[in-house]
Amino acid sequence: MFFTFWFQFFAAIIAAGFLYGAIYLLMQDKAEKHIHHVAAEKDTNLTTAELAAYDGRTSGRPILVSLCGKIYDVVSSAALYGNGGQYNSFAGKDITVACAKFNKTSDAYFNAQWTGLTKPERELLAKWEELFAKKYPEVGKVTDVDNMAPCPQSNEGIAMQADAYSTTLGMDLFAKKHIS
Ligand SMILES: *[C@@H]1O[C@H](CO)[C@@H](O)[C@H](O)[C@H]1NC(C)=O
Ligand SMILES: *[C@@H]1O[C@H](CO)[C@@H](O)[C@H](O)[C@H]1NC(C)=O
Repeated sequence: MFFTFWFQFFAAIIAAGFLYGAIYLLMQDKAEKHIHHVAAEKDTNLTTAELAAYDGRTSGRPILVSLCGKIYDVVSSAALYGNGGQYNSFAGKDITVACAKFNKTSDAYFNAQWTGLTKPERELLAKWEELFAKKYPEVGKVTDVDNMAPCPQSNEGIAMQADAYSTTLGMDLFAKKHIS
């Protein structure tokens, strides 16, 4: 009887220890995976170097993306632009050229000059501009984008008919992922 009590007593302590360890590991795992983002303040004017800090990988910060030098708060699409998201490579960057060329993998198209884009590229870019303006709040400007040419606007008379390029590469995205 005496022996059984102590056996159960120690067994319970060991079980509690295992349980505590398991819960501790689980909580730690969750803390590492969970990044909490906040909304950006208005008039968040940044240089491209400063913008890089809003890449969706730091808790307590907004996720920002710049298109044609306009900074958008994309925190409402954190699943896409946040850490591990399909468009996380866009976060913290000016993505004008990447969008126009529909290429999210090449670093050369981030924070890049958007002069010299082809007409189909400008048409696709205008679509992106329309999308971002509709979907995300504009919160500021990139102050050191050294680019005098204005970005194309879909309401500035650029024909929006889908050509072969934008149909095959770009429009798919708007149909499937972004335009509801
Ligand atoms: C941010 O930039 C915009 C546009 O250039 C300007 O109107 C605004 O005053 C700037 N805000 C701050 C806080 O510098
Ligand atoms: C993106 O651009 C790079 C460099 O020009 C190229 O190697 C890559 O194939 C392009 N990716 C897509 C999806 O077009």
